Amino acid sequence: MNLSISTLILLVATGAIIGTNANTTTVPESSIYRLNSHVLPISYDIWLKPYLLATDGERRFTFDGEVNVTLYATQANTSEITLHAHLINLANISLYNDSNAEELLQTFTYSDIAYDGDTHQLTLILKDQLTLKNKFRLRFAYTGQIRDGMQGFFRANYTDHEGNEKWIGVTQSQRIDARTIFPCFDEPALKAKFSLQLSRPKNYRTVFNTELLESIPDGDDRMLDRFAATPPMSTYLVAFIVSEFEEYGSDELKIITRAEYQNKTHFAYEVAERAINAYDAYTQQPYKELGLDVMQMAGSPKFPHNGMENWGLVIYTDDVLVNEPDYTDGWSNKEYTLSVIVHETAHMWFGNSVTFAWWSYFWLNEAFARYYQYFMAHQLYPEYHLDQQFVVNQIHLIFGIDAVGSTQPMTSPEESINTPSEIGYKFSSIAYAKGAAIIRMIANLMGLDNFDNAIRAYLKEYYLKNTTPEDLFKHLKQHWPSSHQVDLDAFFHDWTEQVGFPVLFVNINDKHEIELTQQRFILGLGDGSNDTLTYTIPITYATNVESDFNNLTARFYVPNNMNKTFTVDKPFKWIIFNLQQSNYYRVFYDMTTLKHIKTALSMKQHDGIPPTNRAQLIDDSFNFARIAMMDYDEVFQFLEYIENDTDYLPWYATFSNMQFVAQRLTLQQQSLFVKYLDDIMTKIYTHLGFTRSNETVLDIYNRNKVVSWACKYHLFKCGGQAQEFFNTSIKVGNKPTPDFRETLYCSATRDGAFFYYQTLNEWFEKEKLNSEKKKLIYAMGCTRYFYAYHYARILNGDIPSDYAAAGITPMYAENPENVEPVFIMITNTSERLAERIGWPSVANVIKDIANYLTTPEQKQILDDFVTEKGEYFGNSFSTLQIATATVELNLEWAKLRLPKLIHYFEKRNSAGRKSVTVILLIFVCIIQWFL
Ligand SMILES: *[C@@H]1O[C@H](CO)[C@@H](O)[C@H](O)[C@H]1NC(C)=O
Ligand SMILES: *[C@@H]1O[C@H](CO)[C@@H](O)[C@H](O)[C@H]1NC(C)=O
Ligand SMILES: *[C@@H]1O[C@H](CO)[C@@H](O)[C@H](O)[C@H]1NC(C)=O
Ligand SMILES: *[C@@H]1O[C@H](CO)[C@@H](O)[C@H](O)[C@H]1NC(C)=O
Ligand SMILES: *[C@@H]1O[C@H](CO)[C@@H](O)[C@H](O)[C@H]1NC(C)=O
Ligand SMILES: *[C@@H]1O[C@H](CO)[C@@H](O)[C@H](O)[C@H]1NC(C)=O
Ligand SMILES: [Zn+2]
Repeated sequence: MNLSISTLILLVATGAIIGTNANTTTVPESSIYRLNSHVLPISYDIWLKPYLLATDGERRFTFDGEVNVTLYATQANTSEITLHAHLINLANISLYNDSNAEELLQTFTYSDIAYDGDTHQLTLILKDQLTLKNKFRLRFAYTGQIRDGMQGFFRANYTDHEGNEKWIGVTQSQRIDARTIFPCFDEPALKAKFSLQLSRPKNYRTVFNTELLESIPDGDDRMLDRFAATPPMSTYLVAFIVSEFEEYGSDELKIITRAEYQNKTHFAYEVAERAINAYDAYTQQPYKELGLDVMQMAGSPKFPHNGMENWGLVIYTDDVLVNEPDYTDGWSNKEYTLSVIVHETAHMWFGNSVTFAWWSYFWLNEAFARYYQYFMAHQLYPEYHLDQQFVVNQIHLIFGIDAVGSTQPMTSPEESINTPSEIGYKFSSIAYAKGAAIIRMIANLMGLDNFDNAIRAYLKEYYLKNTTPEDLFKHLKQHWPSSHQVDLDAFFHDWTEQVGFPVLFVNINDKHEIELTQQRFILGLGDGSNDTLTYTIPITYATNVESDFNNLTARFYVPNNMNKTFTVDKPFKWIIFNLQQSNYYRVFYDMTTLKHIKTALSMKQHDGIPPTNRAQLIDDSFNFARIAMMDYDEVFQFLEYIENDTDYLPWYATFSNMQFVAQRLTLQQQSLFVKYLDDIMTKIYTHLGFTRSNETVLDIYNRNKVVSWACKYHLFKCGGQAQEFFNTSIKVGNKPTPDFRETLYCSATRDGAFFYYQTLNEWFEKEKLNSEKKKLIYAMGCTRYFYAYHYARILNGDIPSDYAAAGITPMYAENPENVEPVFIMITNTSERLAERIGWPSVANVIKDIANYLTTPEQKQILDDFVTEKGEYFGNSFSTLQIATATVELNLEWAKLRLPKLIHYFEKRNSAGRKSVTVILLIFVCIIQWFL
């Protein structure tokens, strides 16, 4: 659906109002979305008067606006000006000579104006052609809405510490909403300078991209704030806030939030300060020399993104800036703060100074921001090991998305991205996560020093300009070591213009020849993915005799249309390809080679094979098994090595992949699986325990996963230990650290007496902080024995419906043995549940449980439910259909993929029992011998 500008009201000079529908004027049949560049903007002088107060009456949440756009023609015979406007009511449009602002050239009347509601293009037909050498001033007077959504100029409310409801006006111009705030040439390449005058109630404060120049009285208890001009920048970076927030910090770096947050933003402030200094040094273009003296970071109670990099005024969702002591100041909260701030700060260079030329190249902004969010942040805060975390958080995650038919290339052809929804399509995790992975691959291959030099040269050449990928590649090529034998054009094409990534197949024969071949990795066979794509593959490897895992320079490149057979000089026991998983592909080893790797992994210190590569081996194996390139018994056999692994990354890869299998096991199969889990988890569980001295941040992260899996499957008396730890914590009056809180609460409540449920419920009722209430309600839902009581409280409204969904999920997700009874309970009470949360949410609950259904009987219950109650669901019926399809798919998949695994578990378990029998026999013999 396209929102149109609604009614274009034209107030002609005489004061008469002509109302007309925008599309009464002729619009070309196939709309052209791109502006021609016959006229270009130089600067915008904007004046806005927003009405935010209850006393503003009918005008509340609207604004008056005026803008002067200074522009010039690039071509002779220019007889039209076309620019963007959307969702604003234009009242007066006139054209002046810029050098003599008094000289009115034309006042536009209805017949001079055409508007296209699809393209948001406003075309003004000129009486006289624009002369080439002059500048002109196009003046608009208009009104608009302070919107309810989270786009353009929008409103947000919060309750202050005295319990009063407060409203702020805040902006999000990206992607294409600057045009809803003022008429403009709303394309990223059409950079201009922006100045703002903003009228506000006296007790409010305004902030804009730039520094405040002056505030002057503006009648009626209002003030007019006048701000300096921005450097030339894209329209999507324009930002301002009207609020009662406080401002603190220095002249150079300020934080703008609600007053009561001031003392909770110290960490955010420190991060920003360090990040700016680090980028200043790294880019050799200090922030202040880019064009603005000040960096302001504002928090909003309601915001569509974690952060938006508006130049000089980065707006964050409050959670990023605010670390509540004892609540949201754990390591993981700080990692979030740190990642987002380092990301947004990177954009000052990558995006704000140097901007993609068009949305089809959006990754040129985001790939860098995501890359530095890990690797610059790692320089500043090494304790988070973000360099390692990148592999599991970004690469393994994006591999799932880049292996199905719906993926997209990083770079799309410019002409294929035109409409608002096509622009939206490029805002994909491919631009961010794959982009960052490809940047990392490039940086490591060419060498970090070369890469850094290339980036500096790129930032310097295109300072305040726009770029295409070719502009970046030009600098990368110039700094790429000439000794490397690689076709860089093919390399860049393969990884940025093609979708997907390959599996490198490694086959070693008895003559020790290594044969390398490739094929694209595709998860959804038959989903339209092109399986013939090939890639220029950089080869890195290490062996037990040449075990430098940190040299990420390619030994050689395999061209996209070739295979390669080679030998390694020094004989080796094991070989690992794709060191640190620095290159964007999976590796499939022949079974003998994989066995040798497993042997190495089982040795002391895993024979020097680092956590990133261990995580890669695990993630690859599980994914190969998922699509039958391997069997699960082989994966779980390989995974046995992990019983001696205590690092976070391999366990992260294990848990996140094992979930896919565990969820699809019947209860009966699960008992076999649990025995296996018991074996591989004994050491890590003991190693981490509930507390541990000298623990690292990654140990703390790992404990969450280890304890939560151990307790979920009732291993190692985990539940009892969780209860004990819980009791001790509350006895000394200390809640456990925010990092471990949800896991501990859930684990203690699961098998615990009613006391645990009750305690959490008391806390829940007293608690004010939303994020903490969510943790508590989730933990309450973990109860294995009192779930029916818990559920009844959801149904009767004792638990507010806002928290219902968070309270229902753990009932089945955290208790595999309760999946069926909970499912039956919910299907039997669907009407009552719908009264609380509505049918669409009930449908979502059913869809989620469907992921855990594993037997034909359970499928039958679902089918019966859909037949019986389907009609109540209205539009959400399609959600139920997804649920049915999911169960069907899962049952079928399990039938095909699991038998060998089950057999392996059985064999393994009975082998274990056999050795116990042997010992018993020996024992009996010895006793007999003594007798
Ligand atoms: C404007 O366009 C819309 C959609 O294209 C159409 O439904 C409507 O009738 C048009 N209005 C006029 C006045 O032509
Ligand atoms: C626009 O320019 C006119 C003079 O041409 C001036 O009177 C008016 O104040 C300007 N408006 C803004 C917002 O700068
Ligand atoms: C914000 O406004 C909405 C709509 O008026 C209201 O439902 C909500 O309770 C308000 N939130 C706060 C925190 O005041
Ligand atoms: C912040 O802390 C300082 C010193 O502890 C205190 O003086 C100040 O009042 C606090 N500010 C707010 C807004 O709580
Ligand atoms: C698959 O990719 C190859 C190589 O780019 C291309 O030649 C071929 O046309 C593609 N096939 C389809 C069905 O798109
Ligand atoms: C890193 O590996 C490359 C490729 O094998 C090699 O040419 C280079 O000498 C190695 N560098 C170091 C420091 O070992
Ligand atoms: Zn970003």
